[in-house]
Amino acid sequence: MNLIRCTAAECEAMAAVHAQAFPASWRDDEFEDLLEGAGIYGFLATDEAGAPLGLILCRVAAGEMEVLTLGVATAARRRGVARALIAASLPAARALDAAEVFLEVAVDNDPAIALYKGLGFRSTGLRKSYYDRRPQGFVDALVMRLDLNAAAA
Ligand SMILES: CC(C)(COP(=O)(O)OP(=O)(O)OC[C@H]1O[C@@H](n2cnc3c(N)ncnc32)[C@H](O)[C@@H]1OP(=O)(O)O)[C@@H](O)C(=O)NCCC(=O)NCCS
Repeated sequence: MNLIRCTAAECEAMAAVHAQAFPASWRDDEFEDLLEGAGIYGFLATDEAGAPLGLILCRVAAGEMEVLTLGVATAARRRGVARALIAASLPAARALDAAEVFLEVAVDNDPAIALYKGLGFRSTGLRKSYYDRRPQGFVDALVMRLDLNAAAA
């Protein structure tokens, strides 16, 4: 697996792999706009042939890193891609003076919650009806936090 720090050149691949991980995907021009934002950076994981496997997009502001999105293509899951993407994002957050990481995750997203807990994230709160899954309804989000001073990677 290769991990590439994202630039405009990666946005098409980011959008393609995002669409494999989420029902409501983001377009490549949306990724391009996001990457131009202050404190925003991302990594793309690819296989040896350059095919995209997963992505992470993060934003650092006021000493906090927020994971904006993290997704891995269905066929590439349970091979450590997400763990590697998060590991790559942490030194980049520290380099931008972040001391902690926050993210939201749907309360019913057991794979992601297991991933984050395994990396040392802890639940710090609940956002009621955070995700719009109409017509099924709304789903709460757990807010999870990682202390970058305590984290290994
Ligand atoms: C959640 C997601 C990013 C995990 O990606 P991944 O590359 O498969 O995760 P990894 O292989 O790095 O898994 C690392 C650890 O997370 C946990 N984990 C990951 N998927 C899991 C699953 N389906 N069930 C239980 N635990 C899981 C395990 O502890 C795993 O370690 P192990 O394989 O050694 O047991 C992926 O399932 C995904 O893209 N889901 C859809 C989008 C999404 O929910 N994104 C997160 C939004 S907050």
